[in-house]
Amino acid sequence: MTVSAHNPGLPPIIELNSVIKEFGSYRAVDKLSFTVAKGEIVALLGRTGAGKTTVLNLIMGTLAPDSGRVMVAGFDPFRQFSALKGKLAVSFQTDRLLPWRTAVENAELGLLIQGKPKDQARTIASGWLARVNLAGAENKYTHELSGGMRQRVSLARALAVDPELVLLDESFSQLDHVTSHELRQDFCAVAREYGKTCLLVTHRLDDAIEMADRVIVLGPGGHVKLELSLREAATDETVVGRTRSQIAAALGEDTGKQQQNEREE
Ligand SMILES: Nc1ncnc2c1ncn2[C@@H]1O[C@H](COP(=O)(O)OP(=O)(O)OP(=O)(O)O)[C@@H](O)[C@H]1O
Ligand SMILES: [Mg+2]
Repeated sequence: MTVSAHNPGLPPIIELNSVIKEFGSYRAVDKLSFTVAKGEIVALLGRTGAGKTTVLNLIMGTLAPDSGRVMVAGFDPFRQFSALKGKLAVSFQTDRLLPWRTAVENAELGLLIQGKPKDQARTIASGWLARVNLAGAENKYTHELSGGMRQRVSLARALAVDPELVLLDESFSQLDHVTSHELRQDFCAVAREYGKTCLLVTHRLDDAIEMADRVIVLGPGGHVKLELSLREAATDETVVGRTRSQIAAALGEDTGKQQQNEREE
């Protein structure tokens, strides 16, 4: 069994080994290898078109690699798609809630699909809404909720099925900075409390530094340009500054410009 280099002793939940994915003659992912250990929060950073969503699709099993190996929780996600049912949850840039369902009815959706009895699903979903600070909003329809609240419902829905792995694709990037910051903090607190393994895709350096234990920067054409542990950085301002510059350089941006862009978004 391959053991993660970052948490020796624990088998990786995600393992990509020399993965190649081409669309026609365009190579979107080029010999990509990385692992994510159980309980780790890893940020996958890269500029637009770097291949981030393609990598998520390979991990979700909605795309097959042309060569190389993808393993998730010990399964091949493409060939053994149904084996990962309930083990994997995804939250996207837009909340993808159903407007004719209330907050709690949206949050319990995954549980009902899994076949949980209605009353149990309702209790579990309400509990998760409370954990993402939405107690009291259970019976509101999506149009009665703010963007941040809707994204919280989407996260509650993802976490309610008690997945082994949570994949986030730019889940916070459409929100204003204050809302996005609060939601990132709340999500991380819950993810760490429950030991969830998370791969979060983002193009925003600040999101990655704030949330992740480790950052992987994808260069154009989908290969690892930089891989950096952030555990040490979290407590030391000088290290944070250095880390920020290193990541910004790998992204091909200068730090000042990146911060300016993020303020303008
Ligand atoms: N189904 C597809 N068919 C053809 N080309 C594709 C397909 N999916 C992705 N690509 C191409 O592969 C490259 C990587 O796309 P991908 O969506 O993974 O990038 P990304 O890093 O998620 O970008 P963004 O930050 O804009 O979401 C792009 O050049 C894209 O045009
Ligand atoms: Mg994308």
